[in-house]
Amino acid sequence: MSRHEAAIIRLEPHAKTAAGRSYSPYSQFRVGAAVISEAGRVYRGCNVENASFGLTQCAERSALTAAVCDGAAPGSLTTLLIYTPGQTAHSPCGACRQVMHELMAADSLVVSCCDGDETRSWTPSEYLPDPFVPDALLR
Ligand code: THU
Repeated sequence: MSRHEAAIIRLEPHAKTAAGRSYSPYSQFRVGAAVISEAGRVYRGCNVENASFGLTQCAERSALTAAVCDGAAPGSLTTLLIYTPGQTAHSPCGACRQVMHELMAADSLVVSCCDGDETRSWTPSEYLPDPFVPDALLR
């Protein structure tokens, strides 16, 4: 079993718990995410909507924010699991892909799962080719 496979098994109940806490009264679209660090710490996030729709926070960015707030170093996050109830493993949005790319490890994996058998997974270069990178600001 690869380290990513082992991580997915550990992350799945956390992503499902997070989806159950989703605040999504407008879309009714629950999303949970869980991310694990090199040190083996797990962080959860869910989508949190707002009556001012543009303020909605996605589950993936909620989990990554929790990790950073707890002291996880950018680049130390190894596997992120997204869970959406239902039979479709959904794709993460573009904004979340940019944030994942900056905070997760170069050899990390993002996986999406659902209640059915479908899973999807992406490496950083697959989910965000030609990213905007921090180096661009340091020149
Ligand atoms: N959402 C996420 O949490 N993650 C994504 O990658 C895509 C969309 C949420 C935002 C909103 O609460 C709902 O799904 C419908 O867009």
